[in-house]
Amino acid sequence: MENNQPNADGVKTSGTHITCWTDTVQQREFETLNQDIKADVTVIGAGIAGLTVAYCLAKAGKQVVVLEDGLVGSGETGRTTAHIANALDDRYSELAELFGEEGARHAAESHTAAIDLVEKIVTEEHIDCDFKRVDGYLFLHPSDDKKSLDEELEATHKAGLQTAMLDASDMPSIAAVDGPVLKFPQQAQFHPLKYLNGLADAFTRLGGKIYTKTHANTKTMKDGYIEANDHKVTAEYTVVATNSPINDWAAMHTKQSPYRSYVIVAKVPKDAITPALWWDTGDQDSVWPSMPYNYVRTQPFNEQYDLLIHGGADHKTGQANKEEELEEDRYQRLESWLRKHFPQAGEIVYRWSGQVMEPVDDLGFIGKNPGDEKVYIVTGDSGNGMTHGTLAGILITDLITGVENPWTKLYDPGRITLKMTSLKTFVHEQYSTLSQYVDFLLPSDVESLQQIKPGEAAIVGRPNKVAVYRDDAGAFHAYTAICPHMGCVVQWNNDEKSFDCPCHGSRFTCEGKVINGPALSDLAPVETPKQ
Ligand SMILES: Cc1cc2nc3c(=O)[nH]c(=O)nc-3n(C[C@H](O)[C@H](O)[C@H](O)COP(=O)(O)OP(=O)(O)OC[C@H]3O[C@@H](n4cnc5c(N)ncnc54)[C@H](O)[C@@H]3O)c2cc1C
Ligand code: FES
Repeated sequence: MENNQPNADGVKTSGTHITCWTDTVQQREFETLNQDIKADVTVIGAGIAGLTVAYCLAKAGKQVVVLEDGLVGSGETGRTTAHIANALDDRYSELAELFGEEGARHAAESHTAAIDLVEKIVTEEHIDCDFKRVDGYLFLHPSDDKKSLDEELEATHKAGLQTAMLDASDMPSIAAVDGPVLKFPQQAQFHPLKYLNGLADAFTRLGGKIYTKTHANTKTMKDGYIEANDHKVTAEYTVVATNSPINDWAAMHTKQSPYRSYVIVAKVPKDAITPALWWDTGDQDSVWPSMPYNYVRTQPFNEQYDLLIHGGADHKTGQANKEEELEEDRYQRLESWLRKHFPQAGEIVYRWSGQVMEPVDDLGFIGKNPGDEKVYIVTGDSGNGMTHGTLAGILITDLITGVENPWTKLYDPGRITLKMTSLKTFVHEQYSTLSQYVDFLLPSDVESLQQIKPGEAAIVGRPNKVAVYRDDAGAFHAYTAICPHMGCVVQWNNDEKSFDCPCHGSRFTCEGKVINGPALSDLAPVETPKQ
């Protein structure tokens, strides 16, 4: 396997595996904040959401600064698979049940508008990012039955989408699938980091400022400024685009749950596979309410090869053991599926995982942070962050500039959806979170620290839990295993070499440094236990 080395500097993305995106593009780096500054709007996070919001606001004449902890695309946008789709993770039939037919129509319209906006920005800003319109195909997971596609055909038509029911044999390039297939025309794909670099450049051409390696702390936001690298950033409005919102302690984190999704990438001979997006309808018997599904696309690579990118095998963050399949073992399941359905797949050249935020009522959150007047958030993307993050550019710009938008209400972070399907998911996810507090009573992962291999870690002690990492030279480093957010016990993710919190998805490097919120601070160092 090539190009699958751990990322030593910890700054490129939120895990150690290098992705086919970070490996083929130099992520943009800008100056680090070293003085107090003022602007109209501060945007925290330079992923697709933060940069699209910043770009759209700058276009509308606002003076905008972006603060980014790592480099451009250091978060989940560097670990995505970048299907740009209005075929959403959750079915339109469910959206109609939860938000009514008008809500489902607004979801279809707004995600279609987001695909169009990406295309417009690519064209107007001359961004060379392999953008391509492709068709998408939704086919049955073996655990599902035809009725679900029939319902979806009807629901998508009512929502205004031009879908069509075909037979599996009408799909290009894929094998071992029978039965009906729902075709979603005019979807798209791109290289997400080439796009972000182009967007960052376009934004700075408009006079915007980006500060990288600049860690924002929102604790002082109520006083009208943010602290970043010990400097004050003062602005009338703040947009928190950190994927999991770092400004919110509890409210939003009860409305969504963090999941880990896995990706493998195989080489295929150039043009052997017709570009398209393929999705199955998800495992209906899964222990997870999100019903993980397989998702596949291609990407041009070099003169000889294309890449075939396959994702799936999701589980709730920090809870892989619930299916008795550790994080690093999930790639094998993906590979068996890929070889069965795409016999053209050659050598696996990349693999990685990333985190997605799953909202309890199926739709993401874009808009005013509940309880705040001038703070906006973007979160709860599910696997639709490319369109959702782009849509944030439209909606947050309209909200800040006072333009009425018919889609605002649908994505309001303050909404409460009292329908049985979302309540069932809410109860399931809250139970799953609360049951993590029992982890204090569990025995140590290892009986002796000597059992920890170099480059690995374990959670030891009871009830005082300690996270112990053994570096490549064999030395031990110990931190409290108690997440600074709300006190759950973090779990070791041996695949991406991070400590992941099973409650709301905060993550920390093997050195205890916070990678993403809601936690704002690191795991504090403690004395190495004698074990
Ligand atoms: C494996 C996988 C496959 C996916 N596939 C698809 C797909 O095919 N299609 C699709 O639409 N979506 C997909 N998604 C979802 C999509 O990638 C994400 O929803 C999207 O990239 C999130 O973008 P974002 O800008 O909100 O967050 P991010 O890209 O995570 O950006 C947030 C940024 O905030 C920065 N940050 C965090 N805290 C701070 C702080 N305190 N100070 C300063 N900066 C901070 C981070 O460094 C990061 O760069 C996938 C996700 C995964 C993990
Ligand atoms: S992320 Fe909430 S307790 Fe850890």
